[in-house]
Parts: sequence; C-alpha cells; structure tokens
Amino acid sequence: MPADGRTDKDRQLDADRAAPEETVLTTDQGVAVGDTDNSLRPGERGPTLMEDFHFREKLTHFDHERIPERVVHARGAGAYGYFEAYGDALAGVTAAEFLTDPGLRTPVFVRFSTVAGSRGSADTVRDVRGFATKFYTRQGNFDLVGNNMPVFFIQDGIKFPDFVHAVKPEPHNEIPQASSAHDTLWDFVQLQPETTHMMMWLMSDRALPRSFRMMQGFGVHTFRLVNEAGEGTFVKFHWKPKLGTHSLVWDETQKVAGKDPDFNRRDLWEAINDGDFPEWELGVQLVAEADEHAFDFDLLDPTKIIPEEEVPVRPVGRMVLDRNPDNFFAETEQVAFHTANVVPGIDFSNDPLLQARLFSYLDTQLIRLGGPNFTQLPVNRPLSEVSNHHRDGYHQTTVHRGQAAYHPNSLGGGCPAIAGDGYTHYQERVDGNKIRKRSESFADHYSQATLFWNSMADWEKEHIVAAFRFELGKVEPMHVREGVVRNLANVHPDLATRVAEGIGVEPPAPPATPPGDRRSPALSQANSPTDTV
Ligand code: HEM
Repeated sequence: MPADGRTDKDRQLDADRAAPEETVLTTDQGVAVGDTDNSLRPGERGPTLMEDFHFREKLTHFDHERIPERVVHARGAGAYGYFEAYGDALAGVTAAEFLTDPGLRTPVFVRFSTVAGSRGSADTVRDVRGFATKFYTRQGNFDLVGNNMPVFFIQDGIKFPDFVHAVKPEPHNEIPQASSAHDTLWDFVQLQPETTHMMMWLMSDRALPRSFRMMQGFGVHTFRLVNEAGEGTFVKFHWKPKLGTHSLVWDETQKVAGKDPDFNRRDLWEAINDGDFPEWELGVQLVAEADEHAFDFDLLDPTKIIPEEEVPVRPVGRMVLDRNPDNFFAETEQVAFHTANVVPGIDFSNDPLLQARLFSYLDTQLIRLGGPNFTQLPVNRPLSEVSNHHRDGYHQTTVHRGQAAYHPNSLGGGCPAIAGDGYTHYQERVDGNKIRKRSESFADHYSQATLFWNSMADWEKEHIVAAFRFELGKVEPMHVREGVVRNLANVHPDLATRVAEGIGVEPPAPPATPPGDRRSPALSQANSPTDTV
C-alpha cells in the first residue's frame, strides 16, 4: 500500500486535473483573453460583431454544456476509495486477483443514486437506491452495478421499458416527479404479480435510507465466479455498511426533502471531507454448480433472495471511500457503469434480467456520453493498458500510431498480441428450442414476499401498511387498488386487510390455505463450496 495513501487511480488522474487559479484566462485555442465582460461592438452602443471569437466561443460552449441525464438513476452522488480482500479464501474459486490477493489495494469509484427522479429531484424520496462500484483492477475494470435491495421488480429484461414507463412521471403531465404514488406504477404492479416481493421492500423503510453510508448493496442477480481451471461457482454479492443499515421514517423524509433536498448527497460529501470515511464489507453467498436446482426457487430469478439461513454470507473484503470527486460532471456524471464489465474470474448467469442489462448499458451510454470513446474519459479509463484495433469515432483522444489496425496483420506496428491467458467465458452447455416462455421455476411470486412480511417486527409492519395506504391511496382507478390488494392477499391476509381498510377497498376473503414460508430442501453439502470460504 503506498505511503501517501493515494491509489494508482489518483496518480493516473493527476495528468487530467486542471487548476484554473494558477493560469491566465485563455480561449480554447490557448489565446490569452484581455476582456471577458464586454463583447466587441462598433461604438459603445452598437451591435455585437460576428468576428468576436471569444464571445462566440464562450456562448457556444455554454449552449452545449448539457448532456442527457441517465434514463434511470439520473440523480446520484459519487466518491473514490479502495477495496482490499481480507485473505485468499476465494483462491481456487475465482481467478479474479483483486478478490483473492490481500496485498492488493484496488481503487474504486462508487456512485449512489435514486432511480425514478430526474437529476434535480430530492434525495429522500421513497425509491430504490443504486449502489454501483467500479473496481479499477490490474486485470481491467469490474463493475458491480447493484441496488440497496436484493431483488428486483421484474424477471425478464424485455419488460424493463414497460416497467420504467410505468414508474417514471406520467407522459401527459410529467407528474409525479419522484414518488411511488401514481396510477401507472400501481397499474403495472397489479397486472404483474412478479413485482410483489420487490414492492414489499419498496414499501418498507429500506426505501428511505438515512444515509448512503448506512445502506446495504446487492448485486441482485446470481453471477458466477470462475477459477483458473474454468470451474464455476454461483455467487450473490452483498455490501454491508460498517455503520449499520439505518432508515429515516416517512415523516422525516417529507420534512428533509423540503428543507434539504441534497440531504444524502451532502451527508456523503461532508463525511468524506471530515475524514469520516464510510466503509462496507463485501460478502458472497456461494452455491456449487451441482446445487443449481437445490432450491425451491430458481437461482436465475432476480425476484428471489437466497435466504441467509440456507447459504450464509461470507465476508471477503472491505471497501473504504476516502476521496470526493474534484468535479461532479467530469466524474460522477460521466462515469459509465456496465454489468458486462467483468474481469477474468467473474462471469454471468442466464438470469434473463441480467442478460438484458448486458445489452442496455453500453447502448444507452453511446448516446448519453456521445459515441464509443467514453471509455477514454478519466473516470472510466482502466488502470490496465488498453490496446486494440478500435479506431476513430467522436471524441477520440488517443493518437494511435502504426500502419495497421486489423487482426491478423503481418506488417507490424499496430497489432497487439493475443493474450494466452485472456478472458475466457465459462463453458456452460446450453441446448434448447428458441421459445418465448418463462420456466415454471419462475412462477412463485409470493412465498418470498410472505417470508419478508413474516420477518418484520410489528412496528415495521405498521410502516409497510402505512406506506401502501399512502401510495396506493392516491391511485384514482379503484380497480387498480383492488388488483393490488388481491395480490397482497397472497402475501398475507392480515397485510391485505389492513391495506384495504385504509384505502376504501373491500377486504379480501381469507384464502383457503394461508400462505406460509417456504424453505428449500437441504443442499448437497458434499458439493457446496460454502463450507470452505
Ligand atoms: C442505470 C438499464 C436493471 C442498477 C441504468 C441505466 C440503464 C439501465 C439504461 C442508465 C445507465 C447510464 O446511463 O449510464 C437497466 C435495465 C435493467 C436494469 C435494462 C433490467 C433489464 C437494474 C438492476 C439493477 C440496476 C436489476 C440493480 C441490481 C442500476 C444502477 C444504475 C443503473 C445502480 C446507475 C449506475 C450509475 O450510478 O451510473 N440501468 N437496468 N439496474 N442501473 Fe439499471
């Protein structure tokens, strides 16, 4: 670890930092400017002259300052820091060096966000929070693009545009700005019962974090760790805050949103400025390939957790955030996370939500960040060397040398070698007819919602009921309210009755067999690597 506490990423960024106070004012062409307050004009009261290049450049640059905000997660706050593995417990499970070598200090950039609101919306709204981490590893960038809740609203990414259209402000009047109280969201929810488990989390106090420093993070999907021999192990990633997980209560969030809409952003900034560096522990739940079907839910279903009683979370390292960005736009706004940014030792599963994400992030960033060269932006640039045949495009900043930009070539001067130990995809056998059909193993939408409800203390249940009543109670069409209550009856009759009574809906008849917790059959311990880490 360096004596000055600076990471390799800090040093890499030095070359890009501008310090205007040490310079004279110039144009973009480097010409010194003598007057930036008065435009050039014939006579004191004449019109502005076209030849005033400084005036034109200043206005033109200003006119083009805005880029599109993120289509979701538009509002966020970021910070730099580092990650250290505790030990080599994952050696033999993954070839990812940063997870297995405790001597390495891997620089990170983390961005926390709300999901639905626009860039200028308030921090303390009822919403999911994004928790995205870019690890600048020696083997390339790995992005863990997670949320503060362990499950998601939908099971297949093809529904994501529908879901986001329902959750964002309504198209005719752009209301509500950032709130879970509107007709389209609840209409989608009542018609898509797979949202039920996530809606329980969203109506809980988890949706009102007191501080980004006090939030858990989850990769949500099942990923794969892959060792040097090409053997895979399923993995769920967890971040656990050292300060514990804490929420505001609903009434506080309302007042704070009015008095200080930047509440969470300010808290993170000030803590880091004061040297009160937030810290998280990275944990993993590991499942042997042989146990893929050992659960009563599908590991590929992102609306399900793996209960920790069944597979414990093993701590494998810690992350500290110790430096605020120098410039919000350059770093926090231009950072580009992508679930497909993986390094050797980490691979995907066939989770249909994850598979959609593997397409969506790069696609959106091509427009948000203006073409294919955004990976050269300082915050996105890997620490490991980048060398390939990608050329040209808007905002190309690399001056590629050499005659040839293709592979293979025999002319030399521009042809990087193919690495013998380069990234190899996990060799999973996949065989099937092309069909648009969800596996039956994705069909249970309620058991884990029930598990969640049953795990709550009485006061937490009261908060959940109050949240459903508040949010759903603002929905105008009664059939939408009734539809949601019908879904909730499958979670727990008590929940459904209490919500129904608060929103003018007839309480549902109790189901013939009350729903209960479901537990998975025992795992095959012989094949479970969870004992070894
Ligand atoms: C941001 C798509 C599901 C976490 C985004 C963005 C898109 C997107 C287009 C904006 C990215 C940018 O402009 O740079 C999708 C799709 C999903 C999906 C298509 C499902 C098919 C999820 C899930 C999670 C998640 C399940 C959490 C596990 C995030 C986070 C960000 C984000 C944290 C903000 C990243 C940042 O801070 O820049 N998503 N998303 N998304 N998404 Fe997703």
